[in-house]
Amino acid sequence: MKHPIRSGLLATALLAFASSAALAQIQPWMDTSKSPEERAAAAVSAMTLDEKLGLVMGYTDPEQLVKEPDEVVSAQIKADVVAHHIKGSAGYIAGVPRLGIPAQWQTDASIGVRVAGMERTALPSSLATAASFDPKVTEMGGIMIANEARASGFNVFLAGGGNLAREPRNGRNFEYTGEDPVLTGEMTGGLIRGIQSRHMVSTMKHWAVNDQESQRTTVDARISKPAMRQSDLLAFELIYDLSSPGSAMCAYNLVNGDWACENDYLNNQVLKQDWGFKGYVMSDWGAVHSSSKAANNGLDQFTGYPCCGHHGAFFSAKTLKADIASGAIAMSRIDDMAQRILWPLFAKGVVDDPAKVGPIDFNASAAVAQTAAEQSLVLLKNENDLLPLAASAKTIAMIGGHADKGVIQGGGSSGVTPIGGNAVVGLEPKTWPGPVVYIPSSPVAAMKTVKPDATVTYISGDNIKQAAALAKKSDVAIVFVTQWMGEGIDNPLELPGNQDALVAAVVKANPKTIVVVESGGAILMPWANQVPAILEAFYPGSRGGAAIANILTGKVNPSGHLPISFPASNAQLAHAEIPGFHKPDGIKVSISYDEGAAIGYKWYDVKGFKPLFAFGHGLSYTQFNLTNLKAELAGSDVKVNFSVKNTGKVSGATAAQVYVSAEPAAGWEAPKRLGGFAKVKLEPGASKTVEVKIDPRLLATYDEATNSWVIKAGTYHLSLGEASDRLSTATDIQLPETRFSAVHAR
Ligand code: BGC
Repeated sequence: MKHPIRSGLLATALLAFASSAALAQIQPWMDTSKSPEERAAAAVSAMTLDEKLGLVMGYTDPEQLVKEPDEVVSAQIKADVVAHHIKGSAGYIAGVPRLGIPAQWQTDASIGVRVAGMERTALPSSLATAASFDPKVTEMGGIMIANEARASGFNVFLAGGGNLAREPRNGRNFEYTGEDPVLTGEMTGGLIRGIQSRHMVSTMKHWAVNDQESQRTTVDARISKPAMRQSDLLAFELIYDLSSPGSAMCAYNLVNGDWACENDYLNNQVLKQDWGFKGYVMSDWGAVHSSSKAANNGLDQFTGYPCCGHHGAFFSAKTLKADIASGAIAMSRIDDMAQRILWPLFAKGVVDDPAKVGPIDFNASAAVAQTAAEQSLVLLKNENDLLPLAASAKTIAMIGGHADKGVIQGGGSSGVTPIGGNAVVGLEPKTWPGPVVYIPSSPVAAMKTVKPDATVTYISGDNIKQAAALAKKSDVAIVFVTQWMGEGIDNPLELPGNQDALVAAVVKANPKTIVVVESGGAILMPWANQVPAILEAFYPGSRGGAAIANILTGKVNPSGHLPISFPASNAQLAHAEIPGFHKPDGIKVSISYDEGAAIGYKWYDVKGFKPLFAFGHGLSYTQFNLTNLKAELAGSDVKVNFSVKNTGKVSGATAAQVYVSAEPAAGWEAPKRLGGFAKVKLEPGASKTVEVKIDPRLLATYDEATNSWVIKAGTYHLSLGEASDRLSTATDIQLPETRFSAVHAR
């Protein structure tokens, strides 16, 4: 057997003189003319067992790691992690220097680089950018955050979130892209595409049915396979199709009795066998519960040891070697794990174009974050055209939400340290998943800049009477309400504190009141009928203040549409209670998703409920006419054409949405599904013909017995509009009975 160190020295010496052609001779995995599969296989065949095992376990938190006994984590690994882990980052996996395989430096998450103490640019929350209904927005955002990540030394991004907002109170909905599989597929797919275009590995997470945060490490999500395939898994399947993520992060929860990270159905049968995933399944931090069961059921990389209440170092060299010796894990499976981890390092360009620490153009990044916010904020209500603010609005009261300091962001592993630091220090909770962070992008300061002719006065709103008095003597009042969400905690839909009372008192004092909502997801608005104008800003990111001021003043025409339904009351939710809600962690609970694939607007349609604001809803300062809807069968897709005209006076954009309905015999989960959408931008008076393709899976149901999709013969009704409850035109198409395999063509 070759001595790894000596042959490493020899290789290094040779490399110093080698041209790239010669290098490809010595190290065939460096031959860029070979496919990523071939390169990964060649590298695996050159690796020792220890090198392979080095790839399958990742580490974090060197201070804790050094306290681990040497027989669990070797002294050599500890020294390597201490030397190379980027302080405050999510994780590190050693490379194989003698073979030119780089280490993996992992960073959270979907809105930007999250490293404690490293100031970086934050995109609006993922739910916010989903509201743009424009995958170019998330793709552009992905490129921006990947540029910052590469310049910070990272090559693996733990983005993007793909869980559906099945539970509107889920405390991580802000990290995901809404309640609909097509929208999530397109929007998270765009983000991952953008990130990977910058030669990083990106991760779809949290795989799968990780739809509540309460008891997230113990909850068993129970759901039928067809329902899962038509909802949660369909969202991931579309992300996968549209972006080919290099990795998938298995979730904390159990699905139908098995932990997600050792779930044969999810990891082996669906992801790897049916979809043909060539990348690796990495665990969420602390989500592994076994060695051979997890390895055999599809987990390829145990990450983030010793973080997050881990249950054991299940993929340590010592444990895996024992499993190999006993026959519990086959050597071929170890090779497969290494191959899967190496594949995206070659396929996505990580090896050929290594990340380098360097300067970051923060102004360029901020411009991307601002554009993303301006495309994403949703004008929910605008009676009597109160917005954009009239030229006659000379005195403006801005109230609450720390709008004098900045905009709020979500807590937990996605929370970016903003440039300039936290604008509002000391709010509760101060510890994980806090601290509560306000990005220093003040809507008040921005308003003063955009509207220099007005007198803008800010008051905190802590004293409701004083706030109402200020509103009364002002031409208009703008109240900011905020809802903080953090990883690991679900949220009630009610706004915290006295914010509802504040809004009610201000609008009573001045009927020209606008409410700006900065929330993680849907909230209840008991004051919605009284307030004439409402702008949903979600968590609007690094330039949120400027984006809000630009929209309120009409400098930018709002064009966001809701990626989630806003319920009228808690009585409309599919689950009255979240099991284990606001109880100490660790209680064993289960949740039966009996609503199946009827999530969000589909659930409202099934029940005949009228939400407060419907999925897809969003207003503009102009109007659009959507007409001439035509549909034809083109190959396996249904192709839809229609025309959109801007009939108003200003330039603007709308999200044109095509919904599909089937006859009852088709057995769909709900009366209609979003089939596709297009963001259409038009100058006043201009019109455009738009084409949207409807994926055949959206016309089908999943048949478990044959592992296939079935489109029933019959009439399918297509409707077009600017919201799921604002459909203006329709057409029908006849479809023949069609059956196609759930196994992807390779
Ligand atoms: C989160 C993941 C995150 C990981 C690493 C976990 O707590 O669930 O989303 O990527 O930590 O920070």
